[in-house]
Amino acid sequence: MKVAVLGAAGGIGQALSLLLKTQLPAGSELALYDVAPVVPGVAVDLSHIPTDVAVTGHGKDELAEALTGCDIVLIPAGVPRKPGMDRSDLFNINAGIVKNLIEAVADNCPKACIGVITNPVNTTVAIAAEVLKAKGVYDKNKLFGVTTLDVIRSETFVANLKGLKTTEVHVPVIGGHSGTTILPLLSQVEGVSFTDEEIASLTTRIQNAGTEVVEAKAGGGSATLSMGQAAARFCLSLVAAMQGEAVIEYTYVQVDGSDDAAFFAHPVRLGANGVEEILPYGDLSDFEENAKNSMLEGLRGDIKMGVDFVNG
Ligand code: NAD
Ligand code: LMR
Repeated sequence: MKVAVLGAAGGIGQALSLLLKTQLPAGSELALYDVAPVVPGVAVDLSHIPTDVAVTGHGKDELAEALTGCDIVLIPAGVPRKPGMDRSDLFNINAGIVKNLIEAVADNCPKACIGVITNPVNTTVAIAAEVLKAKGVYDKNKLFGVTTLDVIRSETFVANLKGLKTTEVHVPVIGGHSGTTILPLLSQVEGVSFTDEEIASLTTRIQNAGTEVVEAKAGGGSATLSMGQAAARFCLSLVAAMQGEAVIEYTYVQVDGSDDAAFFAHPVRLGANGVEEILPYGDLSDFEENAKNSMLEGLRGDIKMGVDFVNG
């Protein structure tokens, strides 16, 4: 198994690479790429940890080398938010970064599964799809927007509120990854009941959790450690699925024949070739149905922006 992290010297990149160095199966390779000159040093640093995962560092002219032979490519490259910004304010810089990186993925490891972390995810995943289509190598089963952070946050907040063990709580989160497009399905949390007030306040907190971190970091960036954990969980699920285990994760994927949007986070059964099956998200409460209907137009607009960016 070869995994590449593009943007590996950043806040997410370093946390994620540390978790992968310690948790990927023995015999795996971890290729770290970044335009920041510190990236070879990050690789040397990690290489001193005694696990059987080989780590290599690749600077700005060595992207092809980092990508060749990859099974999984994770992309947290790009700028994070500062207080007062929306994720969509990152579009001008991050759209071009994702486009260039995906072109290189298409050229060097067209069969790899790709996890896009760079914001705005609602749009950058659409950019990735259009670039891969233009290169003639798009496989919708191998392109994922990583929305696992919304899931782990929801599980933490529900467990804290209800005094439960975090391992006992599972919260489906569908939709996209910004503001009201993030839709936790609290009505489906097994064994837990909520008042209407709890549902309203928890939903808002989950939708604004990224902003909570951005404000607490006061100009120093956005979530990096929790995102590193979320991306590692997603990657390790993908690795387990590629090795034959049955794994389900919520992730933002292309959904055909749906009235929602072209890309939408669903429960997905992962397998050897990425998406094995996109599962239905089940029945929604009236609150959730209304919340979904109110955010769909915005999500579709985010996706169109990505398509238009690539196709002019
Ligand atoms: P950061 O600034 O700490 O790190 C970004 C890294 O990307 C830097 O090391 C930078 O050198 C590198 N980079 C920039 N351009 C590059 C390029 N062309 N090729 C390779 N590397 C490049 O930022 P961060 O906190 O790690 O966040 C990264 C991105 O992830 C942001 O866009 C942020 O909004 C997003 N994010 C997404 C989620 C999610 O849930 N999907 C969660 C948190 C953050
Ligand atoms: C998050 O949810 O923490 C990330 O998308 C980063 C951000 O800008 O909020």
